[in-house]
Amino acid sequence: MKVSKLLIGLFACAVSLGAYAQQTIVIKFSHVVAADTPKGKAAEMFAKKAGELTHGKVKVEVYANSTLYKDKEEMEALQLGAVQMLAPSLAKFGPLGVKEFEVFDLPFMFNGYDDLHKVTNGAVGKNLLAKLEPKGIKGLAFWDNGFKSFSANTPIKTPADLKGRKMRIQSSKVLEEQMRSIGSLPQVMAFSEVYQALQTGVVDGTENPISNLYTQKMHEVQKHLTLTDHGYLGYAVIVNKKFWEGLPADIRKQLEDAMEQSTRYANQIAKVENESALDAVKKSGKTAVYAPTKEERLAFKKALVPVHQKMEGRIGKEVIQAVYKDIGFKPDSL
Ligand code: LMR
Repeated sequence: MKVSKLLIGLFACAVSLGAYAQQTIVIKFSHVVAADTPKGKAAEMFAKKAGELTHGKVKVEVYANSTLYKDKEEMEALQLGAVQMLAPSLAKFGPLGVKEFEVFDLPFMFNGYDDLHKVTNGAVGKNLLAKLEPKGIKGLAFWDNGFKSFSANTPIKTPADLKGRKMRIQSSKVLEEQMRSIGSLPQVMAFSEVYQALQTGVVDGTENPISNLYTQKMHEVQKHLTLTDHGYLGYAVIVNKKFWEGLPADIRKQLEDAMEQSTRYANQIAKVENESALDAVKKSGKTAVYAPTKEERLAFKKALVPVHQKMEGRIGKEVIQAVYKDIGFKPDSL
């Protein structure tokens, strides 16, 4: 009697374990930009690949455009396990206490996507992601967006044109110093609030890659856009560490493969997406797009590169030097 009860119990347990194993694993992937951006498209690609490679065992639900959480909230939600995956911009890791990520915000550091990949695919990138682990976060990949340009309601040809202007920035001390060094008044603000802040004059201008500017319709509330390409904006794809490590090993491997494929895709489309967004902004006729001359761009560079040295204490001199070495950057050779 006792033995049969035990057997029934064991059988029930096996059935329920089997049922658990059959349950679909849901990954909530929250982000703040439009679906029609490099990050939005890459997140959808990951969702598709994850479904395919795990044969439907994993379902990735992508929540775009801050529909689930805004910038600061999403980081907290990830740590609490309310969402499993995010791809915040590299400028948003400072408040988490991982200030070294702000090396990517240093103005005029990177000359193109190839420079970035030397860093993100190398030791610096690996070490940066490892710094997230004590925060309960695992870094999986770096995804590109592109190079930022300044916009405002008044023409921008020289650094002095931004003096006294209230400029929206992401939550990075490097970006704060960048704006201060040309006499602007930086205002940290969640991405989801920027359009309205520009529209109502809470801020005068901002900086973003064109894909973000266009898909949030910021060009409709900014009269001038100057193609300064003065800084980089990209992402770290991150997951809740406990969730990730608790996944069955075979599924985790399939998801790693899905991530590898979507990373390749993200980094392939980023440049083209930004170029077509620029075409669309020009076609809209709503904002005057200005391409600075070589001399004008150099004036911005001269005004902003001193930020590198000023931020050594925050980012760490060794991190900055390691990036300089990877990309052959010489701060004195302007
Ligand atoms: C911003 O806040 O401007 C960007 O970080 C948004 C994004 O995720 O690209």
